[in-house]
Amino acid sequence: MEHDIRDMGLADQGRKRIEWALREMPVLKGLMARFATQRPLAGLRIGGCLHITTETANLARTLKAGGAEVALCASNPLSTQDDVAAALVRDEGIPVFAVKGEDTERYYRHLEAIIAHRPQITLDDGADLVSRLHQRHADQLDEVIGGTEETTTGVVRLRAMARAGALRYPVVAVNDAYTKHLFDNRYGTGQSTLDGIIRATNILLAGKVFTVAGYGWCGRGIAMRARGLGARVVVTEVEPLRALEAAMDGFRVLPLAEAAHQADFIVTATGDKHVVDRRHFEVMKDGCVMANSGHFDVEIDIPALQALAVSRHRPRPYVDEYRLADGRTLRLLAEGRLVNLAAAEGHPAAVMDMSFANQALCVAHLAEHGAQLDNEVHAVPPHIDREVARLKLRGMGITIDSLTAAQQAYLDSWQEGT
Ligand SMILES: NC(=O)c1ccc[n+]([C@@H]2O[C@H](COP(=O)([O-])OP(=O)(O)OC[C@H]3O[C@@H](n4cnc5c(N)ncnc54)[C@H](O)[C@@H]3O)[C@@H](O)[C@H]2O)c1
Repeated sequence: MEHDIRDMGLADQGRKRIEWALREMPVLKGLMARFATQRPLAGLRIGGCLHITTETANLARTLKAGGAEVALCASNPLSTQDDVAAALVRDEGIPVFAVKGEDTERYYRHLEAIIAHRPQITLDDGADLVSRLHQRHADQLDEVIGGTEETTTGVVRLRAMARAGALRYPVVAVNDAYTKHLFDNRYGTGQSTLDGIIRATNILLAGKVFTVAGYGWCGRGIAMRARGLGARVVVTEVEPLRALEAAMDGFRVLPLAEAAHQADFIVTATGDKHVVDRRHFEVMKDGCVMANSGHFDVEIDIPALQALAVSRHRPRPYVDEYRLADGRTLRLLAEGRLVNLAAAEGHPAAVMDMSFANQALCVAHLAEHGAQLDNEVHAVPPHIDREVARLKLRGMGITIDSLTAAQQAYLDSWQEGT
């Protein structure tokens, strides 16, 4: 079996960590058992371009239990957990093409390996696979039944493709399920981003000025958790509604050019380009720590930072110190790539349980109905979202009330008033 991983000798450690994660993933575990009996994906070739983490390993096992032939590559050069890649190859017979720290050339070579697997269903996290297939392998598009997309940035790219009439197969926007973005983007990114920053720097957050650029689902999670650690949190936004929400949630809202003067930390989570640029580097405090949790490494203008710097050195893993001509030092974590996946382990399994239960159920949905769907970006069917919520509550041991017949009749009627 073809593969490209760092070291098969890491497989034992990977196996233990995959099992550890599964204990926090009761919903996916239940689906794995269901898929093993029902085999909804029998004979399907699935290609995934996802962060190669313990949680992704459990998603791949679930799809395989459902009868699929799965092959995986990384969706980010720095997010691969090499021990997990080794365990997937050795113990699950899943071809994996992913090495933590791979360069761009190898990253794209790995995407090509997944395309050579001739996927009938694609799983993306950032839309690199779907984009590459359309741009370089249009001859294969007729074989593809459909795809899923895990993250906000990927959904934005796919909507642009659909608008331009370029999308040639249906894609389900898993990110947009309530049981995905309300939890994964907020609580997952919130906790793991702080985890990444702390592991990389070990700097105390209490009392520090911590600026979050973007008050979307990720940004609000990061802001909430930074406040919980005692930081004085400032939010920057471009959307009036989101800025207002941040203000009423109790955060200071400022333009970034102003916030940059005071910030000890600046963390981006916008999905946008060059949010932190030269104007901001020029006024930042000595020692300011910058990190990104948005999908691509474009949120901090790294070429502009490099152009301003007179030297660079790496005092700790995942920390680059850029010395400027005026003597200030600015610190960039994880080369501006997703700090939570590069410097920590990505989202905790309990939250990926819901994201990947959505993925598994959406893949089964595509296997059954993909041929009838338009070549558009589709919402996750609401019954899937509700089922994931129901199963997660059960996994957490939480029961809720149900409507009485009289309440249901009341809610369905319009005649009763004051
Ligand atoms: N690190 C992770 O593990 C992880 C997990 C989920 C999503 N993501 C990625 O994080 C990014 C944000 O996702 P989201 O779900 O929070 O998106 P979102 O659309 O909910 O929020 C993004 C916010 O950024 C704001 N914004 C855009 N440009 C800005 C600018 N120049 N300055 C300040 N604010 C700006 C937007 O107004 C919006 O409110 C995406 O790239 C997404 O793919 C990362």
